Amino acid sequence: MHFIRVFYWKFYKIRKMVKQIILFTVLISGVFSGYVNVMNDTFQDMSNWIENVMAGADSGNNDWEYYTDTPTNVFITKINGQNALVLRAVAQNYKGYNYTSGKVNSVRPWGPYGFFNVKAVVPKGSALWPAIFMMPPNAQSVYGGWAACGEIDIMETICSNSSGYSTLHFGGVWPNNVQYPVFPSNAYPFEVTWNQPHWYGVEWQQTYMNIWLDAQMINGSIQGGKLINHINSSQWYSLNSNGQKYPGNAPYNQPFNIIFDLAVGGNWPCSFPGCCDYAAVPAQMEIYNVQIWALTNVEEQL
Ligand SMILES: *[C@@H]1O[C@H](CO)[C@@H](O)[C@H](O)[C@H]1NC(C)=O
Ligand SMILES: *[C@@H]1O[C@H](CO)[C@@H](O)[C@H](O)[C@H]1NC(C)=O
Ligand SMILES: *[C@@H]1O[C@H](CO)[C@@H](O)[C@H](O)[C@H]1NC(C)=O
Ligand SMILES: *[C@@H]1O[C@H](CO)[C@@H](O)[C@H](O)[C@H]1NC(C)=O
Repeated sequence: MHFIRVFYWKFYKIRKMVKQIILFTVLISGVFSGYVNVMNDTFQDMSNWIENVMAGADSGNNDWEYYTDTPTNVFITKINGQNALVLRAVAQNYKGYNYTSGKVNSVRPWGPYGFFNVKAVVPKGSALWPAIFMMPPNAQSVYGGWAACGEIDIMETICSNSSGYSTLHFGGVWPNNVQYPVFPSNAYPFEVTWNQPHWYGVEWQQTYMNIWLDAQMINGSIQGGKLINHINSSQWYSLNSNGQKYPGNAPYNQPFNIIFDLAVGGNWPCSFPGCCDYAAVPAQMEIYNVQIWALTNVEEQL
């Protein structure tokens, strides 16, 4: 009896607390509807990032590099007075490979939804394949493995003379994966001055993704950039093992990691004539700033 009375009292308190939380949430979302900054990393340390140690064969692309976590390949240094995370590809014999390089991912996944903006200097050269992209941790989500789990390629470029590319990978688990846009429609619609600092960003919304060059979040809106690609959500989907589409916004309604790497060689670049005659190493990708703006007030409709 005593126990029951205590229980009811507690239940009443919990109900009251829940009501207060709901009221508070409604007030907060009323005030802060839109983008809220949740990361502004200028690489004073590596606390937001994890180095990947991985053989090129395990990338699924037959890359020529081995990704290590050594300071030869991944380090923070000052460049022109600013801290930068450097991913450096070098010629080095390592575990049967002829090159080593760097790959990092965020320690935790972010989103779904928001504005993810990365300030980087991207190298160009024969057999270099630098990338800024997003994927669920371990390429696995509630929808399954790649590409049912989805992938957002904000920036990729290959060879010494090609454009930038931005692409979504989704659909079924490999080999039933699909991409949008398909090559070469995924090429940036303008030239980029590579080897110069630029902001590469994705505005990931429920109804679309916009890939941006040099856009900035100013006073709660995305301003000043050049639109690389607008992808309507009607283009993407995720398939279950029976080939049926999952409902809602799958696969882009799950949190994704942010990933940077500088690959050397690999199936895609080396399928272009003259692209992989030699490896233009040493070469490095420099990342100066990562800003994440979370989107508040998102209601998922399933
Ligand atoms: C390393 O280079 C040698 C000589 O060109 C080549 O035979 C070998 O396949 C290369 N190894 C890897 C892992 O790419
Ligand atoms: C941002 O907001 C401030 C204060 O409302 C205003 O003074 C400023 O002009 C705005 N800047 C831009 C670029 O919109
Ligand atoms: C997406 O495409 C549909 C028609 O296919 C259109 O009605 C809708 O406005 C588009 N949405 C965006 C955000 O572009
Ligand atoms: C890039 O250069 C290679 C080797 O010179 C050439 O074969 C290829 O056609 C070039 N591609 C473009 C897009 O210009």
